Amino acid sequence: MTEAWGPDDEDDRRRRGASGPVRVRVPSKINLHLGVGPLRADGYHELSTVYHAISLYDELTARRGDTLTLTMEGEGAGELALDESNLVIKATRALAAYTGMPAHARLHLRKQIPLAGGLAGGSADAAAALVACDALWGTGLSRDELARIAAGIGSDVPFLVYGGTALGTGRGEVVSPVLARPVSWHWVVAVADGGLATPQAYGELDRLRAAGGAPEPVGEPDALLAALRQRDPAVLAAALGNDLQAAALSLRPALAETLKAGEAAGALAGLVSGSGPTCVFLARDAAHAERIADELIAANVCRDARAAHGPVAGARVS
Ligand code: C5P
Repeated sequence: MTEAWGPDDEDDRRRRGASGPVRVRVPSKINLHLGVGPLRADGYHELSTVYHAISLYDELTARRGDTLTLTMEGEGAGELALDESNLVIKATRALAAYTGMPAHARLHLRKQIPLAGGLAGGSADAAAALVACDALWGTGLSRDELARIAAGIGSDVPFLVYGGTALGTGRGEVVSPVLARPVSWHWVVAVADGGLATPQAYGELDRLRAAGGAPEPVGEPDALLAALRQRDPAVLAAALGNDLQAAALSLRPALAETLKAGEAAGALAGLVSGSGPTCVFLARDAAHAERIADELIAANVCRDARAAHGPVAGARVS
């Protein structure tokens, strides 16, 4: 949907935009439940998922410029393409097209979220670009409008505009908040060496299912949604599930060792995050999460392990 403003409005809105830098912090996501349905005609799978935003963040700074440029530091610097294929650039151009503003900004990304890790880092950065450029240009779109633009960038991007804990349907782009107690859950994020391409994980699940080698699908998230209305991490632990886990384990058998090590370290549950290869573990509290992270690092079963909590807000000016 396009809704361009006229050139007269544009000058006015530019004046109302930020003159100094706009800094946006955006979380990563895990899927507490990821039910994957059949492959659709458009190449996507129908999903029934529960997204959860956690406190492992990227930061995007936007400044006024005469062209569109992107620089970066941190996770994946030197590996990640900064050209038109980058989701940050795609999101900025999509916002410019929607608002009728010129796509001018100097963007700088500080990445902590690993690339191709199943934590939606690229999608998070795209959500951050929408929020940052909306503030920089003074275009003042609502979260719902930003989420509509986000859906055209990638399936996970609308959720990262909102954050929190939310149900995702369609290909994941239809997001609605879930009723949950105001409880903070404590997680350990075990970062693997190297990434796993999302289409490859979905393709592997299709292959396993066709061969009769996939576990029973996790189905609808009723038990998980019920667990979120309680406070007991043991109840939540029993309700976590991810259909893509079997595919990630088939492509990366070593992840089984990571999952085993987390449970041996006392985690209430462990599962592959999204399409992997990052694994996440549920802890009883913050101190428990720190201890599990230390043990995972000592056991040498991952590149890094960090404690995090959720739910947290989506992309926000900080
Ligand atoms: O939407 P996004 O561009 O992030 O998706 C990347 C790829 O992941 C898709 O091209 C598709 O192969 C796979 N995917 C899928 N079903 C979904 C979401 C993603 O098969 N619901």
